[in-house]
This record gives sequence, structure tokens and C-alpha cells, in this order.
Amino acid sequence: MATESDAHAMPRFPEGFLWGVSTSAHQIEGAADLRGPSVWDEFTAGPGRVKDGSTAAVACDHYHRYREDVALLADLGVGGYRFSVSWPRVDSPGGLGFYDRLVDELCAAGVRPVPTLFHWDLPAGLDWRQRDTASRFAEYVSRVADRLGDRVGKWITLNEPAEHTLLGHALGVHAPGERLLFDALPVAHHQLLAHGLAVRALRASGAADVGIANSHGPTWPASEGAADREAAEFYDVLLNRMFADPVLTGRYPEGVGELMPGSAGGIDADLEVIAEPLDWYGVNYYAPTRVGAPQGARIDFGGVTLPAELPFSVVPVEGRPLTDFGWPVVPEGLTELLTGFRDRYGDRLPPIVITENGCSYDGLDDRDRIAYLDGHVRALHRALEAGVDVRGYFVWSLLDNFEWAEGYARRFGLVHVDFTTLERTPKASYGWYRDLVRGAGRTP
Ligand code: NOJ
Repeated sequence: MATESDAHAMPRFPEGFLWGVSTSAHQIEGAADLRGPSVWDEFTAGPGRVKDGSTAAVACDHYHRYREDVALLADLGVGGYRFSVSWPRVDSPGGLGFYDRLVDELCAAGVRPVPTLFHWDLPAGLDWRQRDTASRFAEYVSRVADRLGDRVGKWITLNEPAEHTLLGHALGVHAPGERLLFDALPVAHHQLLAHGLAVRALRASGAADVGIANSHGPTWPASEGAADREAAEFYDVLLNRMFADPVLTGRYPEGVGELMPGSAGGIDADLEVIAEPLDWYGVNYYAPTRVGAPQGARIDFGGVTLPAELPFSVVPVEGRPLTDFGWPVVPEGLTELLTGFRDRYGDRLPPIVITENGCSYDGLDDRDRIAYLDGHVRALHRALEAGVDVRGYFVWSLLDNFEWAEGYARRFGLVHVDFTTLERTPKASYGWYRDLVRGAGRTP
């Protein structure tokens, strides 16, 4: 069955637009015996934390199969591959050697390596509540940059500090499993400080193409009523502005800075570090969130139960298809997000790269994923037409992988992974993306 979007030719993207796919270390590498433990290993060892009771000890076994995976990337024709460097692996003997080999393999295949330096797998024993973790991160970043910087040009400091703070430290459904609610705010601040220190460390090692991958989405009030609008604004501050404002403007949104731990020099000294200029700004987009006034009841939020004491509630986005994860499919949310960012941050906004976008569907028939991606790529193009400077788009994810607290049940990959045999089988969406990427490379 042809969808409406199939009927229209894909609009042209600018010359040099970077098409890519993303993964992260903990979700695909496996080979947990060849590195030190992370907070995620500790967390998944506890009962009832991961829905299918699984761990990432083997995952996609990418550590041993990276050549096969790079061959899949080469065949896909993508210009860039966003992966993450595992800090606990780098701290283990021979750990950096793996990334050396991976980067060499990517370069030989003509795929640009785009490493993320922190994608949630903090070495066990470290803690983002401690300010010192930010300096430890910068030291580790220097080690990685010194080793890989001759072949890696494009770097990402952190992945989604908002989710890591909210899910890991405020709600306790991700590692390290803390339920601190608003006492988790220092975790956000210390990650942002780590980001700024990492930018400085990368610059010191000669890096000239540095960004961050923040998760963002439009926040829609449940109604036009004042209480719903106020709750939606609060949520927008919590998930969007608290992580974008300090990086892009050097200030926290009103009322937030006072809640953050300062340094000896005060919060302004930290904000100066956090606002270190970036070459580009990475956005992970999946769906908008509809938010209303607190309902005094426990609310289910994409599989997460929100405590009733929060000053907002998350309500369903109605009238939209849902992915198998239950997330609404709203491509125009991406256009809205990007034009909204341009309007909010103006000249302070560097070029944007979509560092993640994708969806989870179970079946082998992959039409839903193609429709999702097709719709979002077109929505992205509409943002370009509206004058937003977007330079790249990365699909989450190359492979089905370990989807954190959901285990292996959520399949985001363009490539199917059989988690018993570890066999990789490209899905129809892989072929669709290959056609798009290869077609986009042609001149008219
Ligand atoms: C955000 C995260 O960066 C990634 O690790 C996760 O798998 C995807 N979104 C899908 O939930």
C-alpha cells in the first residue's frame, strides 16, 4: 500500500547535508567483561529494573562484530556514524584500542566518525551529584581526544542530560535509580558543567567541530486554560530550556539558577564555562509532549509512572498514530520545534544537527518505520525552507539494541538483530534510507 508521502518525490537537501545513523556504547557493544562496570551494569543487576530482565552484557556484541556493522554503514551510504565512547572501557586496559580500531575502520569505509563522549554509562563509583565528576569527565575527554583527534573531527560531549537527570536521578527508572525529584537538579548542573569543561578540553586538543546532543520536543498545553498553560510552561523549562538556555545564552531560565549549586566563584562562573561557544547544536527529537495541570493522580508517561506530587501531568496526544512504544507520531512537531528554537535563540543558535530521530516497531514489516522517517525528514525540510540552518540528520538507530529499562523489546533499528544468534538483517527501512541518502548525494 503506497502512503501519501511515497507519492511525492523527496525534496532536495543542501549540498553537504550530513546523513547518518546513531548508536550508543552500552546499548550495542556487549563485551562487558572487557571493561569496568558502569552505573548501568549495577542498575540492571538489581531485580525488576529492566522489563524483560535482560542486561547489556552481550547486547549486539558490536565490540566483536564492529567490522560487520561498519560494512552495513558503508553499504547504507551514510556520511556519518554517531556512536558513543564508553568511559568505563576507556578506563580499562586496552579500552581505547577498541575505538582506535573502530575509527580506523570507519575512515577506511569513508564514514565520518561522530563520537559522543557520555551516553549515560558512567563508571561505577562516580556520581553526578558530586561536582568533581565534571572535572573527571574533562580529564577522560582529553585522553580520548588525544588518542582519536587525528582522525575524529566532529565531537559530541553529552547525550540527553535531561533524560539522564529525570529518568536516572529524579524518577529512578534508569541508572543509577535515584528518586530525588527536584533534589536531582545538581545532577543537571554538574553534567552541564562537564559539557563546558569538555568543550574546553576538546578545543585544547585542537578540535574544531564540537556539539552536544540535547533532547527537545514541543510542549503542548492540555487546554487553553491558565493552569494547563502554566504547567506546560513549567515542563518546557524542565525538559527544554533548563538544558538549552545555559548552553546557548549562558543563563538559566528564571527561577532555576537559584536552585543550582554554585562554585566558589558563584553560579555565573559556572555558566561562563557552560556557555562555551559551540560549532553546532544537536537535537534529539521523538515526539511532542502534552502537559496539563497536576491531576493529583499517578500518571503513566510512556511507560513511566510519574509521582503525583509533580506540578504537572502528562496527557495523551490525541488523534495520532502511536508507535509500538506508545509514542505519538507527530512529524510537524519537528518543524515546530526547530522554528521555535530559531525564534527563541536567534543569533545565539549555531547550526543544528538532528542527532537522533526514530521509532520503535516490533514487526518485520517495516512500513510504519518508513512512514515515520519519511514524514520527519519532510518536516525537517520544511524547517529548512523556513530558514532554520540544519546541517545533518541521524536516524536512531542503526541496529535494534538494548533500550535501557525496556530491554530488548523495543526495536528502533534499521537493521534487525536476532538476540539469540546475533544475526543482522537489514529491514525495509534500511533500503528506504539507503535510497534517500544515495539519492540526496546526487546533483540535480
Ligand atoms: C534517546 C537516547 O539517547 C537513546 O539512548 C534511546 O535509545 C533513544 N532515545 C530511544 O529511546
